[in-house]
Amino acid sequence: MEYPDSEIPPLAKRINVGIIYNLKKEGTFRSQDDQAEYDNIETVYSIRDSLNRRGYETLLIEADTNLVEKLKTQKIDIAFNIAEGIGGRSREGQVPAILEMLGIPHTGSDATALCISLDKALTKRLVSTCKVRTPKYAVIRKNTAVRLNGMTFPLIVKPNAEGSSKGISAFSVVKSKTELSEILNRNFALYDVEMLVEEYIHGREFTVGVLGNGKDRIIFPPMEIIYKKPTQGDFCVYSYPVKQAYTEYVEYKSPPDIEKRIQDEMINFTAKVCDTLNCLDFSRVDFRVSDDGKAYFIEVNPLPGLAKGYSDYPMLAAFNGVEYEKLIAGILNAALVRYGISGAGE
Ligand SMILES: Nc1ncnc2c1ncn2[C@@H]1O[C@H](COP(=O)(O)OP(=O)(O)OP(=O)(O)O)[C@@H](O)[C@H]1O
Ligand SMILES: [Mg+2]
Repeated sequence: MEYPDSEIPPLAKRINVGIIYNLKKEGTFRSQDDQAEYDNIETVYSIRDSLNRRGYETLLIEADTNLVEKLKTQKIDIAFNIAEGIGGRSREGQVPAILEMLGIPHTGSDATALCISLDKALTKRLVSTCKVRTPKYAVIRKNTAVRLNGMTFPLIVKPNAEGSSKGISAFSVVKSKTELSEILNRNFALYDVEMLVEEYIHGREFTVGVLGNGKDRIIFPPMEIIYKKPTQGDFCVYSYPVKQAYTEYVEYKSPPDIEKRIQDEMINFTAKVCDTLNCLDFSRVDFRVSDDGKAYFIEVNPLPGLAKGYSDYPMLAAFNGVEYEKLIAGILNAALVRYGISGAGE
């Protein structure tokens, strides 16, 4: 497959791009994975260098509580947003909401799409209305009774509003009510969020990347996360510790060796999820495929990680011929075209 390249904007009209981010912080935290979602400065530099090589001017802006003041004084034409936000269930929507309030164009989905997708149960409820298959689930709040709603063990327990496998450990899959209450107690002590309890789908794992919008939207072939060995008992979970030591546990392949029918089902579900939430410019959708060949939607990431040589989204694009710099330029270009900013590659 050939993917379009984005053109270097004409030098006569330089575009100022503000790269907006939140960095991992040093310190002692309640859980080992507390800072999992935040970025390293190297990722910010990789994005900056990619954009500079394509002829854009760049400015680095940390999304702290002074963000509004910074944006009023520093002139940018568009924001390249990778900020995860500061806190709360709507944190991923905080920076886009500020940008939208100030009338500053930005890459990626709007505050509404980011807030909804961070709530996994709410997203599952929405997308199941358009026939996207998703594992049976229940949301459990601290100090409330556990109702299994007809689910059968094994179950997987994960924070309902986190990403980057935060709160997903070697104990997340449970085979009995006793194990379930143990992990719920442990998680409620570590994370201040509701827990999502979901039927564990035994089978293969895939992630699907999306780049661009409308008629220019590319849905890359799924990338398989192939487990070299189980990660917990008989189970395979792409947990935080597994992601930290990924070369030991997994390898990646795209396009995958899988029946076309199943691949098409994942691509069709991806399009439906992105259309339902109105995901823009770039996103990633995770699936498990059961042993009887059914694709199950797990979650959507409209702000997928962009760490060069580490994150799944740049990896799946590279498998399909879109190297890092071209990908970053493609994300920006998709937003520039959407806002009708001149200098965007046609
Ligand atoms: N219902 C399920 N059945 C089997 N495995 C699951 C299920 N839900 C989650 N997992 C496993 O746990 C991993 C992390 O789950 P999920 O993608 O929901 O979390 P996340 O922290 O939001 O991930 P990301 O890093 O993609 O943001 C999945 O990649 C998968 O390996
Ligand atoms: Mg995931």
